[in-house]
Amino acid sequence: MARPSQEQTLQARFRDDPAFFHLEVLGHEPWEKQLEISLSIRDNRNTAIRSNNGSGKTYHMAREALRFLYAYGPDAVVINTAPTWTQIENQFWRNLRDAYQKARYPLGGNLLKTKLDIDETWFALGIANDENNMEAFQGWHAKNILVIFDEASGISPKIYEAALGAMAGGSIVRFVLIGNPTQNSGPFFDAFRDPTFSKIHISAFDTPNVKAKKQVLPGLVTWDFVEEVRKKYGEDSDVYRVRVLGEFPRRASDTLISIDAVEYAFGADRELQNQDDEAIGLDPARFGDDDSAFVFRKGNAARVLEVINGNDTMQLAGKAARYLREFPNASIYIDIIGLGAGIFDRLREQPDIAGRVLGVNVAGKARDEKEFVNIRVESWSNVRDWLRDAILEKHDGFYELAQPKYKINSAGKLQLESKEDMKKRGVPSPNVGDALALTLSRATEGENIGIAWLH
Ligand SMILES: Nc1ncnc2c1ncn2[C@@H]1O[C@H](COP(=O)(O)OP(=O)(O)OP(=O)(O)O)[C@@H](O)[C@H]1O
Ligand SMILES: [Mg+2]
Repeated sequence: MARPSQEQTLQARFRDDPAFFHLEVLGHEPWEKQLEISLSIRDNRNTAIRSNNGSGKTYHMAREALRFLYAYGPDAVVINTAPTWTQIENQFWRNLRDAYQKARYPLGGNLLKTKLDIDETWFALGIANDENNMEAFQGWHAKNILVIFDEASGISPKIYEAALGAMAGGSIVRFVLIGNPTQNSGPFFDAFRDPTFSKIHISAFDTPNVKAKKQVLPGLVTWDFVEEVRKKYGEDSDVYRVRVLGEFPRRASDTLISIDAVEYAFGADRELQNQDDEAIGLDPARFGDDDSAFVFRKGNAARVLEVINGNDTMQLAGKAARYLREFPNASIYIDIIGLGAGIFDRLREQPDIAGRVLGVNVAGKARDEKEFVNIRVESWSNVRDWLRDAILEKHDGFYELAQPKYKINSAGKLQLESKEDMKKRGVPSPNVGDALALTLSRATEGENIGIAWLH
């Protein structure tokens, strides 16, 4: 029998001993769960991994893509996708390029932005999650193929189907779904009930920094992050379940806005719209220990201007006046129940800005009275619709949007959970969420009543 060449034995080692490839070739030392992922990919056709935020999923999977190529080439293809092109290019491929460039041995091939070409039948390629371009997923029929879905919760079900086609008939076939379990429906959710999938669960409490309560691997989730989410949303919240525990949400169906909708809007690669529509929302704290929030919205883009602890009327009125001068085309929408009334009055006394000061009695009558109990739930529902095309500058406060529950009251109208009821279940008041909602509200006081956005 012929002795295997050195190359063959090395390749066999890359297949059998993933840690060897990562360490020796890439200088990457996988932590325990990353290694578990590699072993599952080694041994199973299908692997589904649900995890907290910042566990090193993308970092490791980009390196697994390289391992697959060199372990199963020269007839090997790796395809990866993620919900948005930004995620594909700036996360997965930034990691892959970085690993490739820092490899201890020259890996060969031609490295492009979202493609690594070694040979005609030997490459890795990023493909957009685009239902209008399904052909991109068809017709690979490579001998050995690895398909990676990162942030798999947000990938279109049609792309799942297309990928199944792409993998048909291969010899070594691997399908890996990895992500934050943000939605309790859809193909990613279903994979965890599918016996053909090897399943891995990662919680922040499994990760090195959180376990040691100090920084062991920079960049991975920290103890402080876990504590922050716990304090802000409570252990019982969906935000904590999804982002810290890596568990599917319990209540996705009865919060008005999903975490997904919020996350997809963060820094989203979407076109700017309605840029002449500018509004500031001010939600003043109801109580002294609460926060007050200012949010600025310009068309379909929004950002948090400031979150201030406390409810000093004079201070808030002063800041509001300053923002109105800073944004000369914006009107300000103030929740005037309670403390906000004083701020509203104070601002209306200043002739140069008075015309741009609007009050919203959020308990007042909705524009669509048949559908909504009051203005507050109508505004939040506007936020939900607005988010489909929106761009949010990332701010943790926006996660509050996924907190309030809604119900249908006996009259068949939509009703949003009150701040008081949220408090009772340990969820802090969604000040940033309310401030954003105010910018999409119907004003009840002041000039220019009505809102451009709703015309
Ligand atoms: N094994 C490792 N060794 C050293 N650093 C690591 C390792 N794994 C991950 N990291 C660091 O952790 C950072 C975060 O990892 P990554 O972006 O892959 O997490 P993620 O789980 O994909 O996060 P998200 O939930 O936001 O998608 C990486 O940029 C890298 O700096
Ligand atoms: Mg990631």
